[in-house]
Amino acid sequence: MKNIIYDCDPGHDDAMALFEALAHPEEINILGISTVGGNQKLENVTKNAQHILSAAHSKIELASGQSQPLVKEFYPATNAHGDSGMDGHDFPAEDANYPISSLNAVTFLHKKIQSADDLVTIVATGPLTNIALLLKTFPEVKDSIDKIIIMGGGLDHGNITKGAEFNIWTDPEAAKIVFTSGIPMVMAGLDVTERAYFTEDELQELDKKGPISAIAYDLLSYYYKSGKQFGFKNSPVHDLCAMAYLIDPTLFTGHIYSVDVVTDDSEARGMTIADKRKLPENKNSTLVLLEVDRERYRDLFFQAIEKLDQEN
Ligand code: BDR
Ligand code: CA
Repeated sequence: MKNIIYDCDPGHDDAMALFEALAHPEEINILGISTVGGNQKLENVTKNAQHILSAAHSKIELASGQSQPLVKEFYPATNAHGDSGMDGHDFPAEDANYPISSLNAVTFLHKKIQSADDLVTIVATGPLTNIALLLKTFPEVKDSIDKIIIMGGGLDHGNITKGAEFNIWTDPEAAKIVFTSGIPMVMAGLDVTERAYFTEDELQELDKKGPISAIAYDLLSYYYKSGKQFGFKNSPVHDLCAMAYLIDPTLFTGHIYSVDVVTDDSEARGMTIADKRKLPENKNSTLVLLEVDRERYRDLFFQAIEKLDQEN
């Protein structure tokens, strides 16, 4: 059983990662979920998390965290995720009554990690603002963290700029703190997440199967259409890679490098750079995922949704 915390900014693909996590209670003990401003402003993404957790009749504690990047101005990803941050499905208004902790996410995560009975894995699929603040404010938590699995970055190319990926570009200073913390990292960046797509025909299989597949179908259909503006033939479900790696690392292959983040004020701001030289001083602590077995990745998700349909 793996203890995890999940920090996210739902987000269509964050929502799918959350569904996949909720379908694996035998393997994953979710200690808490936290939200961070990213795809939309904090209040929107927190409400979206409430909707997903309510739909799955979850009891996991939720806390909201930082609304703004550490240094940079905040720019939501409205073009990809819509005004709500998770457009495409009408959720019942009462779902937004899901309880929210009175603690800020940084304090909440510190408490959850310190009171865990074993090491904790952090899965983070939004800007790394909450996680950077956690590591800076409570450095003692480092000894209790097994690894940090993120969706973010990309060695080959970017999406929000030609070189930078949205989550890292949104808060490069936070990402640098996390990547250089010395904690083992797994990076599901665009190199792999753009290979982790579902086809339109595959999405049709979710239509009208049950209460959770209905939500997944609506959200993924919206995301599929919005992906067209970025030139995608099929819709990559980026954040799902981070959760799928946690559940079944054999779906992926990659390479371990020393990865850093560009924080200077140039057109490279927010880029992730791997030092591939074999220098003795390189701290090779980031497993960069590069390939995915897409069929098995898809099956893991569809089985998770089917299980949640039966339980709800
Ligand atoms: C990442 O940015 C967000 O829009 C998605 O939720 C994902 O985390 C992809 O670049
Ligand atoms: Ca996200």
